Amino acid sequence: MSEGIPWIEKYRPKSLRDVIDQEPIVEALTGLLKTKGIPHMIFTGPPGVGKTAAAHALARDLFGDRYVEDGHFLEINASDERGIDVIREKVKTFARMIPMAGPGFKILLLDESDMLTAEAQHAFRRVMEQFSATCRFILAANYLNRIIEPIQSRCAVFRFRAIDESGVRKMVERVSKSEGISVEEGALKALYEVSEGDLRKVLNVLQTASIYSRTVTADLVYRVVGFAAAVDVRRMMELALNGKLDEAKRVLRQALYVNGVSEREILNRMYAEVFYIPVREVDKARILSLLGEIDYRISQGATPEVQIMTVLATLQSASQALK
Ligand SMILES: Nc1ncnc2c1ncn2[C@@H]1O[C@H](COP(=O)(O)OP(=O)(O)OP(=O)(O)O)[C@@H](O)[C@H]1O
Ligand SMILES: [Mg+2]
Repeated sequence: MSEGIPWIEKYRPKSLRDVIDQEPIVEALTGLLKTKGIPHMIFTGPPGVGKTAAAHALARDLFGDRYVEDGHFLEINASDERGIDVIREKVKTFARMIPMAGPGFKILLLDESDMLTAEAQHAFRRVMEQFSATCRFILAANYLNRIIEPIQSRCAVFRFRAIDESGVRKMVERVSKSEGISVEEGALKALYEVSEGDLRKVLNVLQTASIYSRTVTADLVYRVVGFAAAVDVRRMMELALNGKLDEAKRVLRQALYVNGVSEREILNRMYAEVFYIPVREVDKARILSLLGEIDYRISQGATPEVQIMTVLATLQSASQALK
């Protein structure tokens, strides 16, 4: 039984051939594989569309199944590391020796590279230069404009796009066949809608839905997403009220990027919850008007995560005012 495995792992593409809906990129990468002339690359695009997955698939196609164990490929997550010095040391150790077998270089994936400050990126660029004889770098990033120009100009840039409805259908068919579940046509449309072309969300919502029923309906999809929203938002607000902003942020990111909860839904739930939280009435009023304000800002294109964090910070200070 494989119930314990998250589907986002179970259905991670093993080869570039399994990557859904990014044809121009898959074609270009497959071409590079043939010549073994891999440049430094930037994979950019929205969440859950195959950037990290494609980097792994490429490495597996190039080096074989033991691409990690045999030391051909290393993934570093920029947001996990405490600084550029730690990253530099890891690269150094990794890039020092080239395995005898293989194309004569290794591949290093710097995931979430747009989390590095500009200063750290400049230092990283020097690291890239220092080790480019033995190492090809892939930088994954949601926002290309947060990558400094000197790095961009040394990399081939691949722009991943949100998965379209037919891509979501392909993934849902792959999964439902292998899991023996049935997904109604309306549910497929609902999955596409709530995921906004993010296959990580598709897989997470579908896996949760399948626990409730082997036949997945649109209604079930919405209930799963809504249920996740209610639980998450309450927890997130409690954490903020207790001064645990970092943890609140983690819950927020999980809701937004993993569970497929829309910012609209989160704001609505926050609105409803405000009436029950232990802060002064004046602060409640202030928080309600702030919610209205950020609702507007988001509609004008502001980043939901950043905006919602300002409300959580206000919650934190409002609860401190009581103490
Ligand atoms: N194009 C795709 N083809 C097949 N599976 C995909 C694709 N995109 C995403 N997936 C599935 O979703 C999971 C998450 O995708 P991945 O980690 O590649 O996203 P990402 O683009 O790197 O997102 P983020 O910006 O959040 O890092 C994968 O493990 C895989 O199961
Ligand atoms: Mg990724």
